Amino acid sequence: MIRHTLAFTFKDDVPEEVRASVLARLATFPSRYPAMRDWSLGENVSTRDSTFAHCMSVDFATHDDLRAYLSSDSHEGFVRETWRPLIARQAIVSYEYPDRSPATPRGTGETARSPRPRGPYGMEYARIEVPDLRAAIEFLEYHVGLQLEAHTEEYAYLRADVEHHSIELIGAPEREYGHTTAVGYSVENGDVLEQLRKRVADAGHEVLDLAERQRPLCDEGFAVCDPNGLIVELFTGFQEYAEPPHIEIRPLDLVHPFIATTKYQESLDFYTNVLNFLPSDQIVGSTTFLRCEDRYHHSLALQDNKEYYVAHLCFAMKSLDHVMRMRARALYKGAPIASDIVNHSASTSIAFYMHDRRFGPRFELCDSHRVFTPEEHETHRARRMPADPRNIDVWRPASDDWGRF
Ligand SMILES: [Fe+2]
Repeated sequence: MIRHTLAFTFKDDVPEEVRASVLARLATFPSRYPAMRDWSLGENVSTRDSTFAHCMSVDFATHDDLRAYLSSDSHEGFVRETWRPLIARQAIVSYEYPDRSPATPRGTGETARSPRPRGPYGMEYARIEVPDLRAAIEFLEYHVGLQLEAHTEEYAYLRADVEHHSIELIGAPEREYGHTTAVGYSVENGDVLEQLRKRVADAGHEVLDLAERQRPLCDEGFAVCDPNGLIVELFTGFQEYAEPPHIEIRPLDLVHPFIATTKYQESLDFYTNVLNFLPSDQIVGSTTFLRCEDRYHHSLALQDNKEYYVAHLCFAMKSLDHVMRMRARALYKGAPIASDIVNHSASTSIAFYMHDRRFGPRFELCDSHRVFTPEEHETHRARRMPADPRNIDVWRPASDDWGRF
């Protein structure tokens, strides 16, 4: 194992916000360079020597891995354009030491549990304020296949599978259009939840309470506001039913929100560096797909945009046949199909999108969604794909076929 350390001090005239942004950029390195292990960064707290203000430490399995990182175009570009102009002095020490971590079990198909910090497990629900609660319920029942479980004049819970709910509707007659106010993610256990809570607080975000109605539906949890104002609720022990709904054509899971944002980089930093989402792929300059520990290709997507809105929520159906049956219902009832059948290359899913602004975001119904293997989950390197419609829908014939999305 090779431990690579970098001690450094910023130049005196570097403003605080620039320092914070460089440190945040360093924190993205483990997701950019999958060969990195046990990355850490901290301020120098030594009482003996204050020559350097910070130190970064990271491990590589081999000398070649370290060399590949140092000589990569992205790293050299970062050093040349960002690092050298801002750094007063630095010292680099790399040394080899015996690897005492347990060997990966062979022949079992299992992967040794990664020491990387854990992210949320997966998406559970979205909370949407809608001007007409009854109409929204009917739309989600008939066109998405959800089952209504509980409702009052003020709110409604609808579920897709055994999880307590995947959509919470809030009656908001003052709104003209539906508006997504929160998304909920389950977390594997209390330890991970506590680590995430600490990361949120350490990053300077306010740790908020869960919404009042959500608290009794889980063991413990907290909420945080993302850079766009979207509430992210994180919790353990989300209640579930013993049986799925007795509806033949229904989703199996709520997979992801797709968020258009005016604060793309800030949002990316928030979800990857604070909440530990892992980048799966990106469409350069436009969209990044992020995954959770349930290993779906993406449990959240961020798109650089001129305005912020939750663009769609993706539900995975049982099969392509069920997607097409739902599409037939949409055509029959005249429900607006915002984007017709597409074959997503990154997540290997076939989907269509419905959009009636009264009910909030688009609803994407897909046939399945790529799930990484445990090994891929630990080692996958996010692809940098050019902004070409064929990277969004492989059934596009040419690079200029941007219509119909
Ligand atoms: Fe999607």
